[in-house]
Amino acid sequence: MTKPLVPQSDSKKSVIKVLIVDDIPETRENLKKLLAFEADIEVVGTASTGREGLELAQELTPDIILMDINMPDMDGISATEAISKAVPQASVVMMSVQSESDYLRRAMLAGARDFLTKPISGEELYATVRSVYDRRPQIAVAPVVTDTGRPSGKLTVSAQHQAHVIVVYSPQGGAGKTTIATNVAASLMREGTRVLLMDCDLQFGDVGVFLNLQSPRNLVDLVHAVDDLDMDLVENVMVTHESGLRVLLGPARPEDAEEIQSAKVAQLVEKLRSAFDFIVIDLATKLDDLAIAMFDLAERIVLVINPTLPAVKNLRIILNLMDALQYPEIKEMLVINKVTAELERVKAAIPVAAIEGNLKRKAVAVVPMDERRVLAAINRGITVIAKDRNMSPAKELITLADTIRASVSPEEQAQPQGAEASKQQSRLGRLFGG
Ligand SMILES: Nc1ncnc2c1ncn2[C@@H]1O[C@H](COP(=O)(O)OP(=O)(O)OP(=O)(O)O)[C@@H](O)[C@H]1O
Ligand SMILES: [Mg+2]
Repeated sequence: MTKPLVPQSDSKKSVIKVLIVDDIPETRENLKKLLAFEADIEVVGTASTGREGLELAQELTPDIILMDINMPDMDGISATEAISKAVPQASVVMMSVQSESDYLRRAMLAGARDFLTKPISGEELYATVRSVYDRRPQIAVAPVVTDTGRPSGKLTVSAQHQAHVIVVYSPQGGAGKTTIATNVAASLMREGTRVLLMDCDLQFGDVGVFLNLQSPRNLVDLVHAVDDLDMDLVENVMVTHESGLRVLLGPARPEDAEEIQSAKVAQLVEKLRSAFDFIVIDLATKLDDLAIAMFDLAERIVLVINPTLPAVKNLRIILNLMDALQYPEIKEMLVINKVTAELERVKAAIPVAAIEGNLKRKAVAVVPMDERRVLAAINRGITVIAKDRNMSPAKELITLADTIRASVSPEEQAQPQGAEASKQQSRLGRLFGG
């Protein structure tokens, strides 16, 4: 392993500590030379494989890790995944000769914060290192601020707060549930409106990646303590996004999901209702007891699909199930995401009107496809609606949130159904004769 270049020092807090991981010695040297010109950046170590990178990251706790993708031993994506768990305070910048969105998406989902396409110029390198450092993960719970920038105060439980529970679901993987849940939640925020976004995709929740949030604590801690829930604990477990949105992250490891009972999650949501105005819940694709428990207690279920045949067919099944559960139609809100006129023209996507006709529902929102804007927001850990609010798809997402807000006026507000939901743990089994 390449030796650490300088010992870690607490006295150099204002200097950005960089670790370089690349199997090509000349690349490491070039990057080191480029960074040597900058007084506020210090290369604290170099490594030539992903595995060495991981070990050095643990030893040196750098602020930024410049990580090559293709390396022998352990590749950059696996190393990034391991580093995000072992050294969450370090931000990985992926370096690659390719810049295809699939590569970038995989790197991003592994926990990378930004990308540099080789060959890398000095200016690009300095700007990226500094901007990633400025947006480094908020490990500790940040002070709570509202979207107006004013502190919103401590979490208080009150009889006036009976949060509207909005569940976002799709029978289709990758339809845009997390994109819609994060943006709707952020858009529902107003001064004095308390919004909680809960990641209930228990195995592969992406909310933390989308919003660049990490925490050693998550939903599991609250589920364990739900019988005697203390709001100070809730406060400590939640993280606050820079927009002021409060977030309850999902389990850190997929295996943690196994021990979580859906009735306990329902109980938790029910308790949290007294501290918020809106609770937005991002679900996994799986139709299981947890999904049904969340549907039961939701006041609105946002059903997301893309304009494809299998998606429409599967949503039909979900709508039939919801009929069998005797949900009022108003509870179900159809959102068609990733709509492009171009694909419709070449008959590669089903037109919105045809989907609405088939499902006998009007879509409450039609969100255009814009890979660049959506991915750029995710890469920066911000919401799509934080930028270009008058442009698609931000404006459609904001309108969707407004439609949801308007539809849950106090007169319409359903009675809390959580206690009932927790008793209905085996409804799914009964519905399907299991
Ligand atoms: N309107 C859109 N335009 C372009 N890309 C989009 C749009 N909505 C979502 N995406 C992209 O589609 C991918 C999947 O989105 P997202 O993770 O929100 O879906 P999901 O339904 O939560 O997926 P999963 O089933 O993995 O939980 C992401 O890469 C996101 O950037
Ligand atoms: Mg998701």
